[in-house]
Amino acid sequence: MSFDGHPGLRIGNFEPGIPIIQGGMGVGISLSGLASAIANQGGIGVIATAGIGYLEPDFVTDLEAANRRGLKKEIMKARSMTDGILGVNIMLALSDHLSLIKTAMDTGIDIIFLSAGLPFRLPSELKIEYIRDSGTRLVPVLSSARASRLILEKWKKIDYPPDAIVLEGPLAGGHLGFSRNQLEDKEITLENIFRETKQFANHFEQRHGIKVPLIVAGGIFSGGDICRFLDMGADGVQMATRFVATYECDADEEFKRQYLDCRVEDLKIIDSPVGLPGRAIDNQFLQQVRAGEKKPYECPWKCLKTCDVANAPYCIGKALREAKDGNFDDGFAFAGSNAYRVNSITHVRELVESLESEYNLALESSRQAVLLK
Ligand SMILES: Cc1cc2nc3c(=O)[nH]c(=O)nc-3n(C[C@H](O)[C@H](O)[C@H](O)COP(=O)(O)O)c2cc1C
Repeated sequence: MSFDGHPGLRIGNFEPGIPIIQGGMGVGISLSGLASAIANQGGIGVIATAGIGYLEPDFVTDLEAANRRGLKKEIMKARSMTDGILGVNIMLALSDHLSLIKTAMDTGIDIIFLSAGLPFRLPSELKIEYIRDSGTRLVPVLSSARASRLILEKWKKIDYPPDAIVLEGPLAGGHLGFSRNQLEDKEITLENIFRETKQFANHFEQRHGIKVPLIVAGGIFSGGDICRFLDMGADGVQMATRFVATYECDADEEFKRQYLDCRVEDLKIIDSPVGLPGRAIDNQFLQQVRAGEKKPYECPWKCLKTCDVANAPYCIGKALREAKDGNFDDGFAFAGSNAYRVNSITHVRELVESLESEYNLALESSRQAVLLK
């Protein structure tokens, strides 16, 4: 597979053959099946860790142990299916994020993507030497130039500049790092967030001689989109929504069908019990919640630090697990703003090949355009 003309994404000593990272998708949407398929195509496959232990017998009695075991199994399973580059996505909002980070490192994961929180400081239990010895690379997922600048400065001070940054814009799926007002602000676009961050990252490189690769995410759908962002100076792209409708995606067929069937007007911003807005495919479950209905649940563990358990109308973990298993009476699917454009299920290989040919076409026409100027 080749994406000609791209300067090459490099995260620490990991050099994927293609500049595509598959965004982590919880609960259970990107596990070993999808992650290994992307890694086999030369990209970076990412296992989502949210709720990963839900098939373990002790998920209700000992969430932390179940998640640790579930994660270890999934990493090892993915490793048995690929020699490519594998990452995990760990949301800092998860109450057991530290245990997940350690487990992933100890199981030899290549890259950890830290999302849903601002890691201004690394947890004090994580010594820099421990991170370095593990060989694992740390990549925060951020939603603003300001956050990126602060993280660059703060991590530089502790002598561990981030190995890359994923900039996730407002068109992404799942929980979003923006308020509802920000989501309506036309000035807040991935392009603008990227340009501003790139400027600072360039200064940072000049000042310290450290290049921090910037990866863009949120709404990237075609090879043309990939070409446009790489042309702007991005080092790679992260894509999630596009990989749901693949045979290798770990979700139930019914989850994929929700993507095939949804229309643009079905993609809604919802208020998640986690306290963040999220983008999802609207359905009866969400309509009932909006109408004030409470969905009964028990919460033996507060799995998300920011969850308002006393007032939450439903358990987001449970709703997402039901959706992963294809039960949309009791759950709903997160999806990016382009989900309505997904109209068939393909193999990851075919999808990556079509992205590559679209990319090459777009590159050719942008070169022609430069020549004609
Ligand atoms: C179904 C779904 C589940 C997601 N779950 C997570 C998650 O668990 N953690 C996370 O950091 N991001 C999550 N995301 C965000 C993606 O990783 C990704 O950055 C984003 O969706 C990229 O935009 P795109 O879907 O338009 O390609 C999820 C996205 C989707 C569509």
